[in-house]
Amino acid sequence: MWNFPLIPDNASTIAGDVDSIYYFLVAVSLFFSLVIVIGLIYSAVRYRKGSKATREGAKDDYLPVELLWSVVPFVLAIAIFTWAAKVFFDIRIPPKDAMEVYVVGKQWMWKVQHPLGNREINELHVPVGKPVKLIMTSQDVIHSFYVPAFRIKQDVLPGKYSTQWFEATKTGEYHLFCAEYCGTSHSGMKGRVVVLEQDEYEEWLSGKAAGVAMLSSGEQLFQQFGCQTCHRQVSGQRGPSLEGLFGREVKLQSGDVIVADQEYIRESILSPNAKLVAGYQRLMPTYKTQLGPDQVNQLVEYVKGLRGGEPVTKK
Ligand code: CUA
Repeated sequence: MWNFPLIPDNASTIAGDVDSIYYFLVAVSLFFSLVIVIGLIYSAVRYRKGSKATREGAKDDYLPVELLWSVVPFVLAIAIFTWAAKVFFDIRIPPKDAMEVYVVGKQWMWKVQHPLGNREINELHVPVGKPVKLIMTSQDVIHSFYVPAFRIKQDVLPGKYSTQWFEATKTGEYHLFCAEYCGTSHSGMKGRVVVLEQDEYEEWLSGKAAGVAMLSSGEQLFQQFGCQTCHRQVSGQRGPSLEGLFGREVKLQSGDVIVADQEYIRESILSPNAKLVAGYQRLMPTYKTQLGPDQVNQLVEYVKGLRGGEPVTKK
């Protein structure tokens, strides 16, 4: 038997939706191509030079036809837009309960760290049937995280978090590619996503890949860099408290109010003055040159875990 698949495996909850739009677009294109080509050939034959076909009564304009070829494409285009927009939002907005995994792209590999500490390179282990949110950044140039079987592709940028979520529906191994030309070995920047049953995944988590939880690494960095000098448990003169910061609204010097998410925490470590909290001075230095992307991710996890009142260290 031939093994010549025309499309990749269908292995995520959104893959079917993406395929449906794709097939619909192909069908619409085929239909109109046929209508036009058949009409073209018919007219070319019937009205060829010297044919006896009557040429009387030809019209320059004919309102019903003009309306037809304006209204039908309009309705079709709006329908496709509405449908695609809905699927787009489904792909963009991760479910609240999604588990999070950090991804760092660099020339030319994918580095992954799970919150419990497990690190992998060019591999991503995830459980089946659970939404997974990737929090991704690049250490150098633009890369793009692409898993055809999940129908997801997201640019991974330096100096910013981009996120992508998916829920795998089938266990197995799937290709992971870089889909943005990023230098000499761009084509070699590939790996695999391994989808495991929940219990196998837990076994993998506690297996040889296990490491120091990101939260603990983050706590260590927090102390090493003396962050607690200014960011005490209670807001002081020099810096606001970070307890319970994650997910909370923050009033900025500029008057804007933002919600403290991972991107805000990341930005505030690297560009502290970009979104200065109302009532504070420009005192904090940047940590751009002192922290790598992995360390920033660990600090972000640590700050995320600071929920007012609870002990600072969790397992
Ligand atoms: Cu990384 Cu192409």
